[in-house]
Amino acid sequence: MSLNRRQFLASTLAVTALPRFALAAPHPLRAEPVVSQILDAGEGQTAGFGFNGSTPGPELRLRAGERLSVAFENNLPDPTAVHWHGIRIANAMDGVPGLTQEAVAPGGTFDYDFVAPDAGTYWYHSHHQSWEQVARGLYGPLIVEEATPPDVDHDITVILDDWRLEPSGKMAGDFGNMHDFAHAGRLGNFAKAILPEITVNRGQRLRLRIINTATARVFPLALDGIAGRVVALDGRPLPEPRDLSQVSLSPAQRIDVIGDVTDTVRFLFPTPEEAFVMGTLEPGQDPVTPREAPVAALPDSPRPTPSDSPRALTLRMQGGAMGGQHAGDDIWSFNGVSGLPDSPWASFDRGETARLRLVNDTAFPHGIHLHGHHFHEVNEDGSPGDLRDTTLLMRGETREILVVFDNPGKWLLHCHMLGHQASGMKTWVEVA
Ligand code: C2O
Ligand code: CU
Repeated sequence: MSLNRRQFLASTLAVTALPRFALAAPHPLRAEPVVSQILDAGEGQTAGFGFNGSTPGPELRLRAGERLSVAFENNLPDPTAVHWHGIRIANAMDGVPGLTQEAVAPGGTFDYDFVAPDAGTYWYHSHHQSWEQVARGLYGPLIVEEATPPDVDHDITVILDDWRLEPSGKMAGDFGNMHDFAHAGRLGNFAKAILPEITVNRGQRLRLRIINTATARVFPLALDGIAGRVVALDGRPLPEPRDLSQVSLSPAQRIDVIGDVTDTVRFLFPTPEEAFVMGTLEPGQDPVTPREAPVAALPDSPRPTPSDSPRALTLRMQGGAMGGQHAGDDIWSFNGVSGLPDSPWASFDRGETARLRLVNDTAFPHGIHLHGHHFHEVNEDGSPGDLRDTTLLMRGETREILVVFDNPGKWLLHCHMLGHQASGMKTWVEVA
């Protein structure tokens, strides 16, 4: 299914403000059914899942090095668990049923308690039947602030998502649709940027924390109305801010942009013909003189240095519709094995560096996510490049990633097109 013009929401209304609460231990976090205004105001509402009464759930904000303590309660009719995506977390808090904890039964509770070591833009989401629960809205932003945050006028979280809705606003069912699983996943027919209701002004400097929470859609993104630079990918600072031309965000990927408002800030979904407006920030009537200082790199945080002689392994994505390779028992596989094997795909000594060659032998893009670690995408010249927690491989593409496995535990490695994960494209590694 592709997006057509009428299906797109080009609303300038901020439909869902992101609620937030200040750090106080422990945060109550309730997963529960919610009704939200995904369509324009005045149109039908959508029943789904959320946290503390809303989807996206509350923005959780803390400083790097602080402890987050969450009293989680499951008020859903189904079991669930919360994963803290991108955080280098203690393994027992990673929220993966079957690997790090039991799913929390309806009416049950679980205490999540961890230190967030690295500043950056992260998010939390269900990791149980995630292809359905995340599509229903069970996610929220997790923001870890720098000890000395950059000088900006507004720090704005922007969520890109798409939903498969009936004209009434009702969410289409059929979450486990095998046709979706075997193709690109559950692509929505409505997409938008969820923005807070705030007034910006020309000349003001903004930090935009953009998160793709969709279960399947790769968002191409362009911005106008802001002279901005990309300062972080998947929460990790770039050594030098980078030009903001068109970028793509795989499901689960994030980018941080800092820049100065020049006009209406528009979040655009470019297509070969035309760009669709996914959301806007309208400037108010109080322009200010822009800062003279150019956008600087964010402060870096310590990161392990990969060794020069990494262990080399290959992970081949196989299967799916129009796939040439045998795919294991299910629709998708890694190296011919579908789903979580009893023993890990690979075991590493703590601190060991591995170079994983990811080969996309399928007809679809995959966003491959490793839990509990960041990794370098390896540049063409072989040098360690951008640090990420999720890497996007287009059809036929191969990429090497360099990982220092320094976080002990059992860690999932899977496709973040969540229908692909559900139908086989996942495995796990163990770090002793
Ligand atoms: Cu964003 Cu395995 O998760
Ligand atoms: Cu995939």
